[in-house]
Amino acid sequence: MREGHIVILTGAGVSAESGLGTFRDVGGLWTKYDFADVATPEGYARDPGLVLDFYNARRANCRGAEPNAAHAAIARLQREYQGRVTLVTQNIDDLHERGGSSGVIHMHGQILRALCAACGHQWGWAGAMALDDHCHSCAAVGTVRPDVVWFGEMPYHMEEIWARIADSDLFAAIGTSGSVYPAAGFVADARHRGARTLEINLEPSENAAVFDQRLLGPASETVPDWVAGLLGGSG
Ligand code: OAD
Repeated sequence: MREGHIVILTGAGVSAESGLGTFRDVGGLWTKYDFADVATPEGYARDPGLVLDFYNARRANCRGAEPNAAHAAIARLQREYQGRVTLVTQNIDDLHERGGSSGVIHMHGQILRALCAACGHQWGWAGAMALDDHCHSCAAVGTVRPDVVWFGEMPYHMEEIWARIADSDLFAAIGTSGSVYPAAGFVADARHRGARTLEINLEPSENAAVFDQRLLGPASETVPDWVAGLLGGSG
């Protein structure tokens, strides 16, 4: 196992201690907003200004947040582990990258990028987004949206992710409630293909029964401990 392939899936819980809200916990984003209004193509068609405002606030929060010890520990694992480490995240923030990770697979897109709904061009976007912004490729106006995957849209990089899971020896889900597919189905697939499965979360997730092993507690504590154990005990 020490030189096997570890596939890590992260969710909002890994960024919670950086001050970014989760979705389904008490006070989470989906307790304050109806996801159908702000995270679906239909919601965007109904009221694009509302959707841009929602993501403008999230982009500002993201830019004001700092990576925490869990992000740093995952980056350490990527640097020091002798085997292969794949990092897949459902998070649209850039805290894994700023915490030192590379090759992060953002299956739900990235808040610091824009997507043109007309031509499909994708590019970096750091500030607020407005209804009269134009595409940097086709110059269309009114088609610029955050490059995030909404409910009803196909997550990014799925073929690559399924291939990595098929090749994994250990699948670890960190800070995710296991309630949104296809990510929620990764653990069953990993297990079916013979990988060990580990959940690291504040509390047992909806998928808890499918995991072989569980570490409960705040990610800023559990993830550094787990990584230190994998790397041979040095903190
Ligand atoms: P959720 O909000 O559904 O779940 C967050 C999980 O993190 C919960 O199980 C919490 O118990 C756990 N958690 C909270 N604080 C933690 C901490 N400090 N340490 C460890 N765990 C902690 O968020 P996700 O599972 O990421 O998709 O949600 C998945 C997707 O649903 C998101 O990517 C987003 C959302 O709708 C889209 O918008 C398409």
